[in-house]
Amino acid sequence: MDHAVTGQEALSRIALADDLDTVEALRVEFLGKQGSISGLLKTLGKLDPEARKLEGPRIHALRESVSEALAARKTALETAALDARLAAETIDLSLPAPATARGVVHPISQVMDELAEVFADLGFAVATGPEIEDDWHNFTALNMPESHPARAMHDTFYFPDHNDDGREMLLRTHTSPVQIRTMLKDGAPLRVIAPGRVYRSDSDATHTPMFHQIEGLVIDKGIHLGHLKWTLETFLKAFFERDDIVLRLRPSYFPFTEPSVEVDVGYANEGGRRVVGGSGDAPGHAWMEVLGSGMVNRRVIEAGGLDPDEWQGFAFGTGVDRLAMLKYGMDDLRAFFDGDVRWLSHYGFSALDVPTLSGGVGTPA
Ligand code: PHE
Repeated sequence: MDHAVTGQEALSRIALADDLDTVEALRVEFLGKQGSISGLLKTLGKLDPEARKLEGPRIHALRESVSEALAARKTALETAALDARLAAETIDLSLPAPATARGVVHPISQVMDELAEVFADLGFAVATGPEIEDDWHNFTALNMPESHPARAMHDTFYFPDHNDDGREMLLRTHTSPVQIRTMLKDGAPLRVIAPGRVYRSDSDATHTPMFHQIEGLVIDKGIHLGHLKWTLETFLKAFFERDDIVLRLRPSYFPFTEPSVEVDVGYANEGGRRVVGGSGDAPGHAWMEVLGSGMVNRRVIEAGGLDPDEWQGFAFGTGVDRLAMLKYGMDDLRAFFDGDVRWLSHYGFSALDVPTLSGGVGTPA
């Protein structure tokens, strides 16, 4: 066996390999399980001790030099490939950025973020509940027993089947069931808002079968109507970003609040759109209803698992879509749910425009 020739030939073939696949093929040919050098190593066992003393170091040295040459060639080829890629892949950092960012935040999402920001500042947490509700949480626990006429007023979407507790299932008609769920889960005291989707079988220019509400609930000791009025006034001023918001509180009726108060804000018509601000009794102004509210009914506090002699509270509910239309000047509610990109790119918000009280709670993109 002439190892010197084998070795020289191997090294020159490795030096000539001009891609990584060839290097790998050579590695298999020489050093693989069936490789020629591996084959030489296997012959050592059959040699007599004298010959083995002579051949052993030579074969090992051969294997060593071949594997070193393979590794060196591999590194050289990889380095060359990387250099070529770096030379080819250039980025011109002086080019202008793409003209417009695609995708905008829907006004409803933006307004819900704005509301969360305004109320977070007043110490309110965000609570949630299911859109598929049972009639106990949606009605009964809110002091609307089965025969209550207010149930009929809600145009409820019912499911054909009852749940495991035998309760009728429905799409929640308002966010008020979250009041019950939050009291049962977290007890008192409480300060939460609950924004979300609600459903009523109703459809025209100002009503869609699905729309958005935000609920507010405060439960504590010694809560009275003054707290409700101050909270709503502070919230509306922060949300509309003006100090001249004037509220009018009117006696009303909701089964789950007693007394119940409907809240109007003063507005004027400017350039064909409603702009809130000023007293509704001022010249050129009128009142517009924006909120339902009141002191939480004792029976609702009881249904929430709390003692109404110990805990009192106020609650309010309003339409998020209506607030968005008022603040940003849209006139057709149905456009909110059409998914028309032209409408969205006009009324949408930049994803980077996160509402903050210090930076302003909303500016269209
Ligand atoms: N749930 C009422 C509605 O949908 C609004 C409301 C909430 C009124 C809380 C009073 C208190 O009209």
